[in-house]
Amino acid sequence: MPEPQDVQRGLEDVVALESRICYIDGKGGRLIYDGYDIRDLAAHSTFEEVAYLLWYGQLPTTNQLDELRKRLASLRELPAPVLRILAEMPKEALPMDVLRTAVSALAVFEPDETKPGEASIGGAQRLTAVLPTILGSFHRLRQGLSPLVQRPELSHAAWLLRAIRGTDANQLEARALDVALILHADHELNASTFAARVTASTLSDLYSSVTSAIGTLKGPLHGGANERVMELLEEIGTPDRAEEVVRAKLARHERIMGFGHRVYKVEDPRATILRDWSKKVGEAKGNLRYYDLLRQVEGVVHREKGLYPNVDLYSGSVYTLLGIPKDLFTPVFAVSRVAGWTAHVLEEYQDLRLIRPTARYVGPVDLVYRPIAERG
Ligand code: SDX
Repeated sequence: MPEPQDVQRGLEDVVALESRICYIDGKGGRLIYDGYDIRDLAAHSTFEEVAYLLWYGQLPTTNQLDELRKRLASLRELPAPVLRILAEMPKEALPMDVLRTAVSALAVFEPDETKPGEASIGGAQRLTAVLPTILGSFHRLRQGLSPLVQRPELSHAAWLLRAIRGTDANQLEARALDVALILHADHELNASTFAARVTASTLSDLYSSVTSAIGTLKGPLHGGANERVMELLEEIGTPDRAEEVVRAKLARHERIMGFGHRVYKVEDPRATILRDWSKKVGEAKGNLRYYDLLRQVEGVVHREKGLYPNVDLYSGSVYTLLGIPKDLFTPVFAVSRVAGWTAHVLEEYQDLRLIRPTARYVGPVDLVYRPIAERG
């Protein structure tokens, strides 16, 4: 029996490993990828450049970034059997289930990357490149439409928006989504990234690690909160009802989605940036309804519970204004976070240690086994 220690349920504040990928200053409200502040990356970088940073640990040169862009564009297509699997999906299937199934199926048709102990930046690029195609293809198939053929000149964000909407993004729309993808790309040992590392720590392959991560992100306490935020706004309807609706939920001890965080004890810096983009895109679209409602909700939750917004509070309003349907919000989160998941898998492989915590046993011991005939 291990030495008695305090049980840390949820592994709260347990330092499980060392990583150079992401640093979260929960007290100061700072988020850093490989040394760069998220505010600088959101202002000046692109998702492709951030993916390069997460995988290689440094920002790319112009040639390296051009190379990566071309490589990602060349890896967007799906093998025909996987497209056929998507076509067989019921149109009411949950998109996160479809994403998880498609990545799992892809592993069967791309055996090079799925031998135990195999994980490469090439595999990371393949999975990062193909997720928008999986998402867009399923969304069009469930509407009875044919999947779109990708256009290599489109950026990752522009292709993601075209693959889902079927129409090209203008510059502001593509940039808004690109910033959202930057903000969601990594977040240290969040549940889905930890799931990916646990899987990789057994020397399982990259595709299995990402499949574990997708299944974990599906949980509403991790992914999916931004969908619930939009449902809350629909329920509130007008800004003058925000106080009444939110206070009633709090009185019933309900969680207000988009608020609170296990690590941030002040405002999530991603929420700050997404609040600005929610306003910017709302102004461009002539629709500040979501932004105004969210500002009201923020005021009530902070006054009543002292809680701050997290990344999920404003992301749904940006996605809705961009024409992304609500049930694709968490898959869009996965489209971005796959860069972080794969970076962490590669890091785990570089300094591998089987992740295997222990539990304190609190059940009985030394019970006498009685044959079933004597058990009454
Ligand atoms: C993400 O880990 C990551 O990094 C995740 C993520 C990432 O990028 O990967 O940042 C993405 O998952 C963001 C979080 C999205 N989820 C939500 O918005 C769901 C709503 N939030 C809560 O469920 C909650 O804040 C968590 C799960 C996010 C964190 O919860 P903790 O750290 O376990 O805190 P807790 O549940 O112990 O709550 C502490 C207190 C409680 O009050 P008391 O019961 O002690 O009086 O704060 C209250 C809670 O009731 N509280 C909330 C609340 N969050 C915490 N009360 C109302 N609404 C909330 N949202």
